[in-house]
Amino acid sequence: MPVPRAALDLVPRPAQFTPMQGRFTFDARTAIRATSGAEPAAALLRTLLAPATGLPLPLAADGRVVIALDPQLTGLGEEGYGLTVGADAVLLRAARPEGLLNGIQTVRQLLPPAVLSAGPVPGTDWTMPCVQITDVPRFAWRGAMLDVARHFQPVAFLRRFTDLLALHKLNVLHLHLTDDQGWRMPVAAYPKLTEVGGVPHGGAYTRGELGELVAYAAARGVTVVPEIEMPGHVRAALAAYPHLGNRPERELEVWRQWGVCETVLGVHDEVLAFCRTVLDEVMDTFPSPSVHIGGEECPTTEWQQSPAARARAAVEGLDGPEALHGWFMRRIGDFLVERGRRPLGWSETGLDLPASFTVLPWRDTEHGLAAARRGRPVIMAPYHSTYLDYPQSERPDEPPGQPGQIVDLRTVYETEPAPAHWEPDAAAQVLGTQAQLWTEYVPTAAHAEYLAFPRLCALADTAWSGGRDWPGFQARMHRHRARLDTLGVPCRPPTHPPGEETS
Ligand code: ACM
Repeated sequence: MPVPRAALDLVPRPAQFTPMQGRFTFDARTAIRATSGAEPAAALLRTLLAPATGLPLPLAADGRVVIALDPQLTGLGEEGYGLTVGADAVLLRAARPEGLLNGIQTVRQLLPPAVLSAGPVPGTDWTMPCVQITDVPRFAWRGAMLDVARHFQPVAFLRRFTDLLALHKLNVLHLHLTDDQGWRMPVAAYPKLTEVGGVPHGGAYTRGELGELVAYAAARGVTVVPEIEMPGHVRAALAAYPHLGNRPERELEVWRQWGVCETVLGVHDEVLAFCRTVLDEVMDTFPSPSVHIGGEECPTTEWQQSPAARARAAVEGLDGPEALHGWFMRRIGDFLVERGRRPLGWSETGLDLPASFTVLPWRDTEHGLAAARRGRPVIMAPYHSTYLDYPQSERPDEPPGQPGQIVDLRTVYETEPAPAHWEPDAAAQVLGTQAQLWTEYVPTAAHAEYLAFPRLCALADTAWSGGRDWPGFQARMHRHRARLDTLGVPCRPPTHPPGEETS
């Protein structure tokens, strides 16, 4: 039996989908009835449909579009929703507000792609096919990391990127705010972090901008997770405050090259106090339950050479200065736990992150298995399938990117966050997956979008619905591209017609 066309159009694919006869049309008389607690979802629907349709969509007790929050609903979890589109009425239901927000993105995708236009599209029938959908995500963590340290990205782009995530039911925007090459988050207690660290490659945000971004994202079901790197990847901070390093007398510049920098934080008490103060300000701005503190690629050469660091290792009863890395992560992780937050860290060979951490294995999938077997919650982020700074094809017209490998659409789509050969207990530790957009080679927002799409669509489909139907995904993507085109996303074109695409 041919798959109904509408079933093919949605990205990500809904869990259950039954097309029905008829169509529902939004027009000037259409009103929304929102039950208690569903008003923000109704407001989002109005906000999202207004630019293209110009429809007022007022709230009314007899509105034909019913948005209902019902905490008694079972089986839909934190983020699932049920959507019934009939010819005369629409019913969107969820047990939690996040589910309603996801359902609204489905309504948006069921409408003609022109609904995504930034301005009015007169003469369009704002109509969608009748359908019955019950939809629940496979994974709770579906994210994208954006590196705003290597190249600063303006806050207007962060809002647009958030919208693009929400369109694909991705629910985490992980902001990599600090690195050797830049510090983008203002910290009142340490103003030179952005005065010095914000200068090369771009600029810095204001607290107000970040707070507004958090609210904007929350209204779309997206949590902004901040990342402050430590104890390595801190050269920009050390350029601002050299006394936080291992050689306080040394003057440093913000780094202007890429790679792993040897300069790392010192391990004296003042450094721990600095990290706590910075993180307190970060937590004031970002209510996210999770706070990422980096932790990877931390050369220990400076600690081996520093009498103070060697003395600290001895006092703490550590085997040697190398063990200061895990010690540092534990101290800061404990601090976040005391503050009621969940510490996140990049995991790689050599560093077994403390038990309180949720780990993002970025080297290879088997590191994820090792962490899961140790009982750590895991967010899969392997470079071979989730690093979107690598080129998408071998074509000569592909813009230069991170050298070393190709990450094509099919690889992103088919990489399983909880592989079938993992034992069930380990697989159960996988919270989800996220894409990584490092920006060493990404000076503009347009280029960031080019790298992100369509690969982020593939990651979203895998994280939400399981990712095991490459031909079906390609067919849906073929039509989903009309939506991305309408949004002006400079999406990489397909290499082959649908059905023939091999990569
Ligand atoms: C990383 O790629 N440095 C996590």
